[in-house]
Amino acid sequence: MAEDSLLITNARFVNEGHITEGNLRVRNGRIDAMAPSLAAATGETVLDAAGRYLVPGFIDDQVHFREPGLTQKGDMATESAAAVAGGITSFMEMPNVKPPTTHRAAVADKYERAAGRARANFAFYLGATNDNLDELRAVTPAEACGIKVFMGASTGNMLVDNPQVLEQLFADAPLLIAAHCEHTPTILANEATARERYGEDVPMSEHPLIRSEQACFKSSAMAVDLARRHDARLHVLHLTTAREMELFRSGPLAAKRITAEVCVHHLYFSADDYERLGARIKCNPAVKTAADRQSLLAALRDDRIDVVATDHAPHLAEEKARSYFQAPAGLPLVQHALLSLLEYHHDGVLPLELIVRKASHAPAELFGITDRGFLREGYWADLVLLDLDRPTLATDATALYKCGWTPFDGVNFRSTIAATLVNGQLAWQDGQLTGAIAGQRLDCNAAR
Ligand code: DOR
Repeated sequence: MAEDSLLITNARFVNEGHITEGNLRVRNGRIDAMAPSLAAATGETVLDAAGRYLVPGFIDDQVHFREPGLTQKGDMATESAAAVAGGITSFMEMPNVKPPTTHRAAVADKYERAAGRARANFAFYLGATNDNLDELRAVTPAEACGIKVFMGASTGNMLVDNPQVLEQLFADAPLLIAAHCEHTPTILANEATARERYGEDVPMSEHPLIRSEQACFKSSAMAVDLARRHDARLHVLHLTTAREMELFRSGPLAAKRITAEVCVHHLYFSADDYERLGARIKCNPAVKTAADRQSLLAALRDDRIDVVATDHAPHLAEEKARSYFQAPAGLPLVQHALLSLLEYHHDGVLPLELIVRKASHAPAELFGITDRGFLREGYWADLVLLDLDRPTLATDATALYKCGWTPFDGVNFRSTIAATLVNGQLAWQDGQLTGAIAGQRLDCNAAR
């Protein structure tokens, strides 16, 4: 058994609502055995977890890795390296690149680009436009992990605002629809009001008033209504407001046709941070008030929100230094996303079991990902070892992103990602990338 076999001893497994102690053997990339005690075989590599927590890797269902066409901001190699450093072992990537991923052939091209370069497992969305219904109707679960629809304009030019197209998309989409919801006409009216008041020099603190609660609610309500009427499988991305929470029902994921997501930065930052961080936290939808943040946390706990993701969206520091209308929206997040969530564990707000359920189990279930997202014998060994007693200081200098900065610069998180394994290979250990490039294509089945 020796060479390709790794034994992790003295671990505390966080899995499927329980924390148990034991050993775990990885063999041929998969979890071969889990038991309270397993004896090391001759020649077997042993990793002593020393009582630390072992969790299934975070599956991030919303990232922007900027390839093709925007690779000055990031690419699959650089951003997936940051992802494994942050305990993310699988990512699902968005279509607002250049040219946009709005044809099945463009999705296939992304899979080819990721193979042999991504350090984490990967899947890609097909993007909707006002005029690619035939492509959307034809796509199969084997070709894309879902259909992304911008029901609000954001980075890239992918707004779908033709009401007939939306009706047909929700009626016919063969896959899960992942929707960005912000009502663009409301935002444009708010922008005009802000321009009247401030000219071009709008303070960043206006962002949540421009990309307002009303804009979010109107669009999210429209998406939920479309999905109900057409019995579509809808996943509403990155929710930000207390008011939107009334659109979603509490309950087990398996029983839902409409699911909800929150992103780590909307759980961590609030409107009080614009003065300090400015465009560094400018994103769409905007970071809202501290009261909104509280409601998002409550909805996560009572299962109105099903999934936590990042919406990792790197932009260059010099782009972020521009004035309000010129600074692009989006922040790089994958390296510190799990660490930021763990702060809520330290504060007694989110149990570890819940974090694992929302960040690992739920995305695996939602996208029908084969053999990942859980610590189970026979599943791929996508594993993360967490040290909750060792702090990590986040700095721009140690950010692995191509853009070279992090909105968490100067934050001393109370935890450390001690090790990350992807398909049984150590990808990150003791603060270093190991060099392993072990990402594989995710086998998704997010059929309607
Ligand atoms: O803030 C954002 N940035 N929101 C999005 O919807 C897109 C993303 C990006 O690609 O920059």
